[in-house]
Amino acid sequence: MDNSKLEELKKLAQESIREAQDTNALNDVRVRFLGKKGEITSLLKSMKDLSAEEKPKFGQLVNALRQQVEEELQEHMTELQKKAREAKMAAETIDVTLPAKKMQYGHAHPNTKALEEVERIFIGMGYEVVEGPEVEYDEYNFEKLNIPKGHPARDEQDTFYIGNNILLRTQTSSVQARVMEKGKLPIRMICPGRVFRSDAVDATHSPSFHQIEGLVIDKHVTFADLKGTLDTFAKEMFGPETKTKLRPHHFPFTEPSAEVDVSCFKCGGKGCRFCKGEGWIEILGCGMVHPHVLEMCGIDPNEYQGFAFGVGLERIALLKYEIDDMRLLYENDTRFLNQF
Ligand code: DAH
Repeated sequence: MDNSKLEELKKLAQESIREAQDTNALNDVRVRFLGKKGEITSLLKSMKDLSAEEKPKFGQLVNALRQQVEEELQEHMTELQKKAREAKMAAETIDVTLPAKKMQYGHAHPNTKALEEVERIFIGMGYEVVEGPEVEYDEYNFEKLNIPKGHPARDEQDTFYIGNNILLRTQTSSVQARVMEKGKLPIRMICPGRVFRSDAVDATHSPSFHQIEGLVIDKHVTFADLKGTLDTFAKEMFGPETKTKLRPHHFPFTEPSAEVDVSCFKCGGKGCRFCKGEGWIEILGCGMVHPHVLEMCGIDPNEYQGFAFGVGLERIALLKYEIDDMRLLYENDTRFLNQF
């Protein structure tokens, strides 16, 4: 092996290094000359054919070549990397005169806002806010509310059954018995929560919606207390001019029972499109807790009385924010939600 071959190889390697335009091409050059099967590497392998005195000399020369090519490779690599970085920076220039990206803030859903308002009003009157389970025993949703199996009231509240005696609650009234059973008296609570019914979706119905239950149990509670409480609530919720009207009704777990209308806060009671010409808008059901319900929950009706009421949260939200279709509340279209 003569030295001119080494010189030639060196020139070839240097030329290839110089010609490499980017880091990938340069890596190929490294593999071509210094890789496991590279042209310089294989020179070392050919040493076995040399005589004993030629070997060390040749070895030195090859190693020197190796080192030099390695250094030049590294040098060119640093240069190429610098160039690549500069090109990237140039391409990524930031136009500081462009307007900044706007932060998108979320905000409370009309349901949440209406609920917070209801809670604020009742907390102000000394009520506690409690919760109950959405998956409920038949016992709490029906039996203990005077709605035994086979009672016609069950027909209006068909629901989704998990088993024979476990269902998705149809009303937050189910929490009444749960709270009464605890035996801590007096009671003054509201219970907001999701309820379920086997209803088809339309502008005023949904298989899942929300109610707020109210329950007061104490000594000497009268129907007048109920009326005063609901009147205060309506005035706070819909404005001080609001009037309330109780219409006799029937609920199995209250006696007597009533439905409550509020004077239309849009027309003041004259009759308009909003109240469908009635001047009044129905908002909730209520009544004095049935003595049998008290007894089933271990409370002596001769000593304690109470009242209860149940209001649909969506109904309140639709009225308060003048929304005419309940479905809008569930679509989560931000163009709609952003208005509130
Ligand atoms: N739970 C009833 C319903 O879903 C509403 C209701 C009526 C609740 C009268 C009450 C009440 O607490 O006293 O239709």
